[in-house]
Amino acid sequence: METVLSGIRSTGNLHLGNYMGAVRNFVRLQDDYRCFFFIADYHSLTTHPTPEDLHGNVRKVLAEYLASGIDPEKSVLYVQSEVPEVIELYLLLNMNAYLGELERTVTFKEKVRKNPNNVNAGLLTYPVLMAADILVHRANKVPVGKDQEQHLELARIFARRFNHMYGEKVFPEPEAFNFGRELVKVPGLDGTGKMGKSEGNGLFLVDDPKVIRKKVMSAVTDAGPTEPNQTPSEPVQNLFTIMDLVSDPGTVQFFRDQYSTCSIRYGDMKKQLAEDIVQFLAPIRERYDEIYNDDAYLHRVTKEGREKARESAAATMREVRRLFGFKPF
Ligand code: ADP
Ligand code: TRP
Repeated sequence: METVLSGIRSTGNLHLGNYMGAVRNFVRLQDDYRCFFFIADYHSLTTHPTPEDLHGNVRKVLAEYLASGIDPEKSVLYVQSEVPEVIELYLLLNMNAYLGELERTVTFKEKVRKNPNNVNAGLLTYPVLMAADILVHRANKVPVGKDQEQHLELARIFARRFNHMYGEKVFPEPEAFNFGRELVKVPGLDGTGKMGKSEGNGLFLVDDPKVIRKKVMSAVTDAGPTEPNQTPSEPVQNLFTIMDLVSDPGTVQFFRDQYSTCSIRYGDMKKQLAEDIVQFLAPIRERYDEIYNDDAYLHRVTKEGREKARESAAATMREVRRLFGFKPF
């Protein structure tokens, strides 16, 4: 059976982009694959969270995973920092990851541009840690959003290089996954670009309905179509893209027809979109608080997840250590 694995950095609450690009696929995959889902708390360290934030953010993402429908009976659900085998593989992979290829990564260049005063080595080797996450369980499929494509390409390069150097096919080459279609990119409501935590344009899974309505009503639009069948501008296309994800097809068609005939009122479209988002997120929001506050449950889930994840990772590391030539006296 093929192995699926994915994680999300714990830097705060999850937004609709994280859900559509990643978590929704986690939930759908868990019946048919051997699944590992984790909270990437080591990856969150590149931005130096306080100890309180570090732990609090792991708890948020854990509760959001569970509220979204990840079932710890079906999937191995764990916290990255509780599986030390990942770090051992990270160190070993670093020895064959080259400065040039890491410096060329788009996400790295982007981070350097945005935060020139915090270009730490962890940021540079972020894709190596991510590859270690994936390879330590020999995963085949990795459900992620479009922005992670290049990281997956690096994970494949590291896997191939390792297999070639040690002459055994230890690691499968992992592929980014989204149910046979293009990887998803959920836009923001601010006119251009993707929805993201650092972009400050997130519609969060556990936002109060009032907050969702307010954010959607203030989305950027334009002056309206001036001739029939015009191609929508980027901000308006973004609203349609989000609507495609959360509204029923009839509703989307209704507003598309209105757009084509220049009779659309963006205020009406936004009201509908806000209600559809609120409804779409309601089941997650309803379960979230109870799970978030249930210490005993979170303790049990992470303990079981850690044990299963370590067993799988340790089996890989025994083989990797043997191939490197480590052996006891
Ligand atoms: P953020 O951009 O909010 O910091 P992350 O980089 O931590 O989010 O991404 C976590 C997961 O969510 C990744 O799989 C990523 O591809 C996905 N993701 C993030 N933003 C979007 C988006 N706008 N559309 C689709 N997927 C997204
Ligand atoms: N880099 C991913 C993100 O920013 C998080 C991540 C870390 C991940 N390790 C991973 C995703 C392994 C998939 C597989 O969201």
